[in-house]
Amino acid sequence: MRVLAIYAESYGCQMNAYDTEVIVSHLQERGHRIVQVPEEADCIVVNTCSVREHAEQRAIGRLFDLSRHRNAVIAVCGCMAQRLGVSLFARVPAVKILAGTDSYALLPDAIESAVEAGDRFSFLEMDAGVTYELLPAAFRGGVSRFVSITRGCENYCSYCIVPFVRGKVRSRGADSLVSEISSLVRAGAREITLLGQNVLAYRSGEVGFPALARRVLHETGARRLRFLTSHPRDITRDVFELMARDGRMCAHIHLPVQSGSSRILALMNRGYTREHYLAAIAEARSIVPDLAITTDIIVGFPGETEAEFAETLSLVREVRFDSAFTFRYSPRNGTAASRLADDVPAEIKRERLQRLNLLVQETRGDILRTQLGATVEILLDGTVQKGEYRFWKGRTPQFRNVLVPCDSLKEGDIVPATLKRLVNFTFEGETPPML
Ligand code: 5AD
Ligand code: SF4
Repeated sequence: MRVLAIYAESYGCQMNAYDTEVIVSHLQERGHRIVQVPEEADCIVVNTCSVREHAEQRAIGRLFDLSRHRNAVIAVCGCMAQRLGVSLFARVPAVKILAGTDSYALLPDAIESAVEAGDRFSFLEMDAGVTYELLPAAFRGGVSRFVSITRGCENYCSYCIVPFVRGKVRSRGADSLVSEISSLVRAGAREITLLGQNVLAYRSGEVGFPALARRVLHETGARRLRFLTSHPRDITRDVFELMARDGRMCAHIHLPVQSGSSRILALMNRGYTREHYLAAIAEARSIVPDLAITTDIIVGFPGETEAEFAETLSLVREVRFDSAFTFRYSPRNGTAASRLADDVPAEIKRERLQRLNLLVQETRGDILRTQLGATVEILLDGTVQKGEYRFWKGRTPQFRNVLVPCDSLKEGDIVPATLKRLVNFTFEGETPPML
């Protein structure tokens, strides 16, 4: 087989970005090479997301766009391939290969045959045994790396398509994770983010999430550890105790609340109430006072009244989130909520989203302003040019952005920075002169 040129694009969450790396590493193992533009590709891989209707519409639009490259085979992977299945062949004729979320190991053979002989393939079987344990994402550079520790979700939040397209929860073995992370650290990674739809569901033999995090801290040389996402129902003290004890475990948690109304939370099948959520936050902050909390929120869930939406606003005020991803409810076929009438008018959803976003930005500004003057530790992960000056871009443990002047520093350095100014939610800071 000749060496093929592969171009890959990833949509959706960080789990998908990691999966794209897994796909690419399977292809590199066969000797194929990665190219940066679709024009040069023999095969275009598009890894897709299904979480909202809008994500799918965008992916379909992009596929039509990529269909122009007539010499390339198009392979659609991930959640949308899993959900829409072979109907995608009819919808976008240029698509030659479909690979659902558990089928990425089959892609190299299929891509080679499709390029050689023009065959079509669809792999849509779900297999809860697949963890991609044996072929983790190949060597990748970069100071901040992501690693998936679990796949799938069985929470069945009533609005969510994920359990249907990503299947049952399974965890990668702790030894294999420790060894992959150690090799990423040897290749230059300083910060590792452990990924899962709900990392707190991690279990490998006796090892649960907190024990895995401790192993990573003790055995891999990672200078910073993050994790994403956590389900509020599964939160326990030990994660925060680890943060309080070990500064390498970053003082940030992404804890999607989805709504501030207990009635809506019950309809969403979230398994906690507003009061539980607030109590968990209070306990977490009593253990880690400088904890940053970020969240996801849905507005316009079926039946959400103005008063219930106001409860979401009041929860945002009370918790003081560092930031929030906010969404208009989008019904997904097959989910429990899709059987409820989508009765909040589009106009009201839009207006609620706007009010929520304003409040989120306002709170974010308030929180960040309290940090001015403080000296914090930042990890440098790239540079930006502003006018004639170049700055290092860094992140605090709380995941806040800081720019510092570019002098003798280098990528991957972890340095103290004094926060001097705040411009568009990004700090401008100074590092001590001896650095
Ligand atoms: N409609 C709107 N937002 C959704 N999310 C998941 N499913 C839907 C849906 N059907 C949001 C949730 C989740 C985030 C990844 O996407 O807030 O936490
Ligand atoms: Fe979807 Fe809920 Fe699972 Fe998150 S926890 S992926 S929102 S079902």
